[in-house]
Amino acid sequence: MTNNPKRYTVTAALPYANGPVHIGHLAGVYLPADVYVRYLRLQNRDVKFICGSDEHGVPITIRAKKEGITPQQAVDKYHELIKKSFEDFNISFDVYDRTSSKIHAETAGDFFKKLYEDGKFIEQTTQQYYDEKAQQFLADRYIVGTCPKCGNENAYGDQCESCGTSLNATDLINPKSTLSGAVPVMRETKHWYLPLNEYEAWLREWIVEGHKGDWKPNVYGQCKSWIDQGLQPRAVTRDLDWGVPVPVEGAEGKVLYVWFDAPIGYISATKALTDDWEKYWKDEESKLVHFIGKDNIVFHCIIFPSMLKAHGDYILPDNVPANEFLNLEGDKISTSRNWAVWLHEYLEEFPGKGDVLRYALASNMPETKDNDFTWKDYQARNNNELLAILGNFINRAVVLTQKYYEGAVPERGELTDYDREVLGVLEGMPLVIATYIERYRFRDALGELMNLARLGNKYLADTEPWKLIKTDAERVKTIMNIALQISGSLSILMEPFLPESAGKLRSMLSLNPGMWADAGSADLVPAGHIIGKPELLFERVEDAAVDAQVQKLLDTKKANEVANATVETAKENITFDDFTKMDIRIGTILEAEKVAKTKKLLKLKVDTGIDQRTVVSGIAEFFKPEEIVGQQVSILVNLAPREIKGITSQGMILMAENPDGSLAFVQPSKQIKNGGEVR
Ligand code: 2FM
Ligand code: ZN
Repeated sequence: MTNNPKRYTVTAALPYANGPVHIGHLAGVYLPADVYVRYLRLQNRDVKFICGSDEHGVPITIRAKKEGITPQQAVDKYHELIKKSFEDFNISFDVYDRTSSKIHAETAGDFFKKLYEDGKFIEQTTQQYYDEKAQQFLADRYIVGTCPKCGNENAYGDQCESCGTSLNATDLINPKSTLSGAVPVMRETKHWYLPLNEYEAWLREWIVEGHKGDWKPNVYGQCKSWIDQGLQPRAVTRDLDWGVPVPVEGAEGKVLYVWFDAPIGYISATKALTDDWEKYWKDEESKLVHFIGKDNIVFHCIIFPSMLKAHGDYILPDNVPANEFLNLEGDKISTSRNWAVWLHEYLEEFPGKGDVLRYALASNMPETKDNDFTWKDYQARNNNELLAILGNFINRAVVLTQKYYEGAVPERGELTDYDREVLGVLEGMPLVIATYIERYRFRDALGELMNLARLGNKYLADTEPWKLIKTDAERVKTIMNIALQISGSLSILMEPFLPESAGKLRSMLSLNPGMWADAGSADLVPAGHIIGKPELLFERVEDAAVDAQVQKLLDTKKANEVANATVETAKENITFDDFTKMDIRIGTILEAEKVAKTKKLLKLKVDTGIDQRTVVSGIAEFFKPEEIVGQQVSILVNLAPREIKGITSQGMILMAENPDGSLAFVQPSKQIKNGGEVR
């Protein structure tokens, strides 16, 4: 591929329509893709930015089942949610389609048919688990059983989530269908396989030799290791009732494997976008780039290219700049554990702050290794960088221009060496940033953008126009002119990363949208041009806002601990006599106070019906004294008295404990006369 392709086809992984989008998706895939595409558009390149919802496969049917709705209802719900949140976050797809569309079924079906007719598949009959009650073959995820490695009784047919081992359904001990509970039986089934082994030599030449040093090391390394291990034929059909029907005879009830149909979704979405779609997919002068997360590398670098090669009409990806993963507050992002910052929730809770999230994610993009998102870092990125560097510089430039010249850009006079140096850096910046973006190094590109704002700040701090205005007003004109040239260029160069703020800045400077080639110029904002009124580009993010988000995550963690806690197995049997030895009564708490110099202890006075007695109880972390006075509790009254912190405790209040350690009283469900026996 030349450095000057005729056009670009840029795809971003189709998200499964089985849940909302979170910051991991954004940092890994959609944000880098959007930055790249916005940059290309500013370079006046012909580019189509393609995405849509991935609406087939087991991930969808499982979600639907969980929510008690049909797969169609599930994808309708999440497709709309995802689409809207992308729009609100200014991800500028040219098309956001979906794989449940008619055009996709045709495109994917035709693709399969061509490979089938050209004899590119092998047919193979194998034994697979079948649920006789539900009358269907079972995807691995629909089978649970005991993990042969760790004994977890709820391991899935593809993986044990307890010990992390990846499994085959046939490895499970005592397998059971999650659809009906039935014990599955083995049954023969026929499927079509793409013989990847036949593409091995070609893949080696194309990737291992052809893209060395050109594809990112993480992507190249994964591909090489797959190829070195040797490739096997891969089934591209499934026995499932949700998906694109396999359009050949003898395949009734079978659908295309979701990883066969999903990448074809890029092609169908382009078809839905434009009648001119073919040139984006079939012309060698088009550059195809797939933005994906690292878990999708094999599908986009090995399987889909082999499909395209087998078909013969299509171009291959020029690059697949996959990112690593983003963690959240030190823990893996997880949909099932709700450990995520969900985009739609963020946009609701931080209105008008889409760019802040874009900035925080782009500065911390997991380009070469997994990275961690923390709310403290988010706050610091906003307050110490966006606000203190970029916002501050722009504000000074615009406010001073308004103040000294009523908004009219002053003429530059004679230049000092310093002025020339600054204008020189400004002139070179578009190329520096462009080079990084074209090499998919978005963090470095953003770093340079901020360096330009830093330079602007330093220039004003060094030249001090606010002091000079009293002694050398002519010189100030030059300084302010240069500061405005930097501001104008920033409004163009920041657009890929911070589109909303770039728009605000343009309107502050009364500039029309510019092109990349305009940036860096010393005359972008001509003398005499009238700029607009100052507005704040960014606002401070206060502690309370991020503390609330951290608290939300802590609550999630707690809820997960409770939900996932294992229940202790029962203790050894006792006799009825053993039980009756315990004298448990209902009593009422009359008084409660904290035991001095302790954290956990409360001193209670309890009316047991028998007497009024003192009990020391380790419940101070969970109850305030004033809240429990008057409450009825269960109390073991014949426990031998004990000395605790110098107080004699006569009995024990019975407590129920949650897995997170929180406590609750064991209380009668209606008022009971004090002294009533519990048995
Ligand atoms: O991993 C995923 O979320 C998949 N839905 C990505 C599909 S990308 C493409 F091939 F469509
Ligand atoms: Zn296990």
